[in-house]
Amino acid sequence: MRLSRYFLPVLKEEPKEAQIVSHRLMLRSGMIRQQAAGIYSWLPLGNKILKRIEQIVHEEQQRAGHIPLLMPTLQPADLWRRSGRYDAYGEEMLRITDRNKREMLYGPTNEEMITDIFRSYVSSYKSLPLTLYHIQWKFRDEMRPRFGVMRGREFLMKDGYNFDLTKEDALHAYNRHLVSYLRTYERMGLQAIPMRADGGPIGGDYTHEFLVLAETGESEVFYDSEITDLKFGNRQIDYDSVEQCEGVLQEFTSRYARTDETHDEAIFAEVPEDRRRSARGIEVGQIFYFGTKYSEAMGANVVNDKGERVPAHMGSHGIGVSRLLGAIIEANHDDKGIIWPEGVTPFHVGIVNLKQGDASTDSASEALYTELKAAGLDPLYDDRDERAGAKFATIDLIGLPWRITVGPRGLAENKVELTNRRSGESVEMSPAEAVQRLKAVYQPVFDAAYKG
Ligand SMILES: Nc1ncnc2c1ncn2[C@@H]1O[C@H](COP(=O)(O)OP(=O)(O)O)[C@@H](O)[C@H]1O
Ligand SMILES: [Mg+2]
Repeated sequence: MRLSRYFLPVLKEEPKEAQIVSHRLMLRSGMIRQQAAGIYSWLPLGNKILKRIEQIVHEEQQRAGHIPLLMPTLQPADLWRRSGRYDAYGEEMLRITDRNKREMLYGPTNEEMITDIFRSYVSSYKSLPLTLYHIQWKFRDEMRPRFGVMRGREFLMKDGYNFDLTKEDALHAYNRHLVSYLRTYERMGLQAIPMRADGGPIGGDYTHEFLVLAETGESEVFYDSEITDLKFGNRQIDYDSVEQCEGVLQEFTSRYARTDETHDEAIFAEVPEDRRRSARGIEVGQIFYFGTKYSEAMGANVVNDKGERVPAHMGSHGIGVSRLLGAIIEANHDDKGIIWPEGVTPFHVGIVNLKQGDASTDSASEALYTELKAAGLDPLYDDRDERAGAKFATIDLIGLPWRITVGPRGLAENKVELTNRRSGESVEMSPAEAVQRLKAVYQPVFDAAYKG
């Protein structure tokens, strides 16, 4: 992309309405525009990153054997009357009446609809296990939408639902989700810690929230500091293996890590004092096993191998896709702007031409732009007729992890400058070397992709 032809409405002024850094930086870098409280347009840069995050979520769900579908945003009220949640959901549900006076709602979640789909087509245990998921917009009429996309009213969520014959099978699905989530967040350059959470009215031990530690997080969390040393890395996991998935769950959940809802001072006191931490965190996902609650209410039964009709065991598993942009920025920024992890960056590298209009810097920048694209990279070439300082500030603000600076002095010796956004370190090298260096940097990102 050439910046002169892109649509990047960067703000010069500090947006006053933003209370936290991620919201401020998303507005300043022209990623989002608020259209109503908690409702945003995703401008091209924001949309590009959102798609990148969605892509990683899709890949990791499919690697785990979960199957994508797409359910609508609008749902009939009757579906929710059957589960008893139409009234229970309260004011957070946006209720709509169509021209035929039929009651509808903008879905805050999809347990009812997926259960309806399941029971319409599946009747035998032989079709199980089955996990279906989608990435779709949700609406929750939050009392206090705030912090930009972190707590929106309209927001993008991945929600997945497992259907299994037995509780044991459903717990394997739970563990599979935990593993896939660890890999998902790490690919985004995030550490998200599974913490024991509150099951709400359904209760039970089988729910974990994934939290990114950040001062601006809305949740209060307590944990054993050893947990932050755990890395999932690029492990090869057989998602069909009960032992392997269970092993990962044990490894990542055996140390103390709880949100304030389940925090227990007496148990926490058993953690050595120097390892006890209390902090704040951003909830970026949650996994949940809830047994037969919806399948019983909605008649989602299957026939088992003895010919008996039994309700399916279910769980639901969510990732806050749009919230993740805010969470990643909270964890990766400095006073100049965002610092995207290489796994989610909207462009792999920014090219800054220090002397736009000069025949030799123009042609060297053009050549570099073409070669980077030929190498499979996605560069943003700042070809505007602007001062160098303004170009640097833009690339830094929007958070590209790498920058190549092309200037007349360096070019005289066939040199450009490659700069790392996070460390600020600059190294001079030939344009060809810069392309090779970046190719090597991004190779692990390309290798991490799931190709099916
Ligand atoms: N209002 C919101 N704005 C943005 N993301 C949200 C919002 N509510 C929930 N999410 C994201 O969706 C994920 C799954 O939702 P869920 O666990 O049902 O939400 P909650 O815990 O708020 O009831 C959450 O972990 C969170 O990351
Ligand atoms: Mg939750």
